[in-house]
Amino acid sequence: MKLQSKSEAETRDIGRRIGKRLKRGNVVCLYGDLGAGKTTMVKGIASALGISERDITSASYTIIAEYNAGVTFYHIDLYRLAPEQVPDLGLHEYLGSDGISVIEWAERAEGEVPDDSIRVRLNHKEEDLREIEIRGMEV
Ligand SMILES: Nc1ncnc2c1ncn2[C@@H]1O[C@H](COP(=O)(O)OP(=O)(O)OP(=O)(O)O)[C@@H](O)[C@H]1O
Ligand SMILES: [Mg+2]
Repeated sequence: MKLQSKSEAETRDIGRRIGKRLKRGNVVCLYGDLGAGKTTMVKGIASALGISERDITSASYTIIAEYNAGVTFYHIDLYRLAPEQVPDLGLHEYLGSDGISVIEWAERAEGEVPDDSIRVRLNHKEEDLREIEIRGMEV
C-alpha cells in the first residue's frame, strides 16, 4: 500500500499505526535516503509499543539499541556500516528472537533479513512531502 505524509508528525503517526499491528518476532525493514524520515518512523513505531519517542535517537554511535517494553524492541541502524561488516553483527540473534526489530538502511543486510519482513520505503518527494510504501502489512 502507498501513503503520503506531509509532515514529520504524519510520518510518526503512520509509524504508530504500523507499531500497533506488530507482533513478537516481527522485523520491519526501512529503506530511504538520508533525511527521508526513517528515524521519525521508528519513533512512531516505538511509541505504539510504549517506548518514549525521546529515547529513540539517530544511531550515530549506536548500531543496535535495545529497549524493554514488555516486548523487547531493537532499533538497528546500519548507516555507518559497509555491507561486508554486517555479517559480524550477528543480526540473526535479534531478528530470530521473539522481540520486534526495526532496521534503518536495511538494504545493507539483504540476505539476512527474513523473507516475511514488513518493508517500508520512504521516498523524499518535496521538502515536507514523503511517499511511503508499505509491503507485508495493511495499516
Ligand atoms: N513528511 C515528513 N516525514 C518525515 N520527516 C519529515 C517530513 N517532512 C520533513 N521531515 C524532516 O525530515 C527529517 C527526517 O529525519 P530522519 O532522521 O527521520 O531521517 P532518516 O531517514 O532517519 O535519516 P538518516 O538516513 O540520516 O538516518 C527531519 O528533519 C524531519 O523534520
Ligand atoms: Mg535515521
